[in-house]
Amino acid sequence: MNVYDSQRMADALASRHFVPVDQPDEADLVILNTCHIREKAAEKVFSEVGRLKRLKIERTRAGKGMYIAIAGCVAQAEGAEIIRRAPAVDMVFGPQTYHRLPDMISRADEQRARGQTVRVLDTDFPAEDKFDHLPGKSGHKGPTAFLTVQEGCDKFCTFCVVPYTRGSEVSRPVQAIIDEARRLVDGGAREITLLGQNVNAYHGLKVDGRSESLAGLLAALNEIDGLARLRYTTSHPRDMSDDLIAAHASLDVLMPYLHLPVQSGSDRILKAMNRQHRAEDYLAIIEKLRAARPDIALSGDFIVGFPGETDADFAATLDLVRRVSYAQAYSFKYSPRPGTPASIIEDQVDEEVKIERLAALQALLNEQQLAFNQKSVGQTMAVLLERPGKMPGQLLGRSPYNQSVHVDLHALGANGPLDEQASQSYSDHIGRLMMVDIQSAGPNSLRGRQI
Ligand code: 5AD
Ligand code: SF4
Repeated sequence: MNVYDSQRMADALASRHFVPVDQPDEADLVILNTCHIREKAAEKVFSEVGRLKRLKIERTRAGKGMYIAIAGCVAQAEGAEIIRRAPAVDMVFGPQTYHRLPDMISRADEQRARGQTVRVLDTDFPAEDKFDHLPGKSGHKGPTAFLTVQEGCDKFCTFCVVPYTRGSEVSRPVQAIIDEARRLVDGGAREITLLGQNVNAYHGLKVDGRSESLAGLLAALNEIDGLARLRYTTSHPRDMSDDLIAAHASLDVLMPYLHLPVQSGSDRILKAMNRQHRAEDYLAIIEKLRAARPDIALSGDFIVGFPGETDADFAATLDLVRRVSYAQAYSFKYSPRPGTPASIIEDQVDEEVKIERLAALQALLNEQQLAFNQKSVGQTMAVLLERPGKMPGQLLGRSPYNQSVHVDLHALGANGPLDEQASQSYSDHIGRLMMVDIQSAGPNSLRGRQI
């Protein structure tokens, strides 16, 4: 979502004639767009500001100046602290106020013109919808795109900062999403990933004033000409409704891939995490998904070392992983986040135990990921080609199951460096869906040949 948000900030700033530059020393404004979900985010911000401060001093000596801005959830959570600790920072604003960026720049310019210290802080949760105030155009390029449809979270898992930094669940209206998807497709997108912290809790308004579910939204987007693939992330098990599961069977653009975090396989820990589901509820959803779409690739998030987690609790997580068999996964050591209920539980798990459990879990998940990839060998798959690969004559794309695929194009580059004509037809393939014969598999990618 931060990638998407950064693009929207660039769109908002274009109205003030800002354009992106490659290096921070060429910039009149540097925005650090931050994430607060796991540890050390704030420390990274302070060390990055230290580096930028030197550039700011040089540019100020040269009469050019530079604003340093901190955006995103670290700004939302620690705005006042940032201003106090890092005087080089001029602007601090949270994820809900990007549309006010042009005004914030005006305020900063006025303060600077008056010779005052520049200080712009905006961590409100405004009543107006920022999407209504962000420019409609998108500088999007390339065959894959993100589109935020929902933001915020009302779940309050006890380990998580998101409900405090992103605020409560809000869904964008259906028509605004369809319009944005059309613009993305007109700009060359073939695949769109719908984004939301709780994307499957989506319930946006239709033009007739009634509410639409994510399944309904996906069905509407399925009709857009030129859109070949749809994905959505991230989902919560509690909102994995039957109509959404059925969409995986009926919608041809919906890819057979789902990221569905479970966090733990122990009911005791799930309860302490306030996840509002048990391990068996999650397994029942997986069973229904596989009945609807037998080849669906599953991904998840896991936390090891949540306060009070015993060996038996951790064994239950490994057991759940064995029963699901994941195609891909993300796993983390629990880190206490300031202000969350779990951070003040006394029974914190030792760091060494967390390290051991994470290693054991990742070994199992990596094994499953490799096995999943190896099953692809010998299959023919549609690959969406996204960019040039490392080798001449090779392109990089993604399979329907979200695997990275290195594709060797026959007749191109086989006999050394490409001539001009060959490189031209080679880059013409980017954005195309190509049928590929998968020949080998590693833990992180596949390799195949154009048929
Ligand atoms: N500690 C470790 N991992 C966390 N996540 C969220 N909060 C924490 C935390 N305090 C992980 C969860 C979530 C993912 C985005 O980040 O697994 O699904
Ligand atoms: Fe955080 Fe839980 Fe909400 Fe996900 S569902 S964003 S983990 S509080």
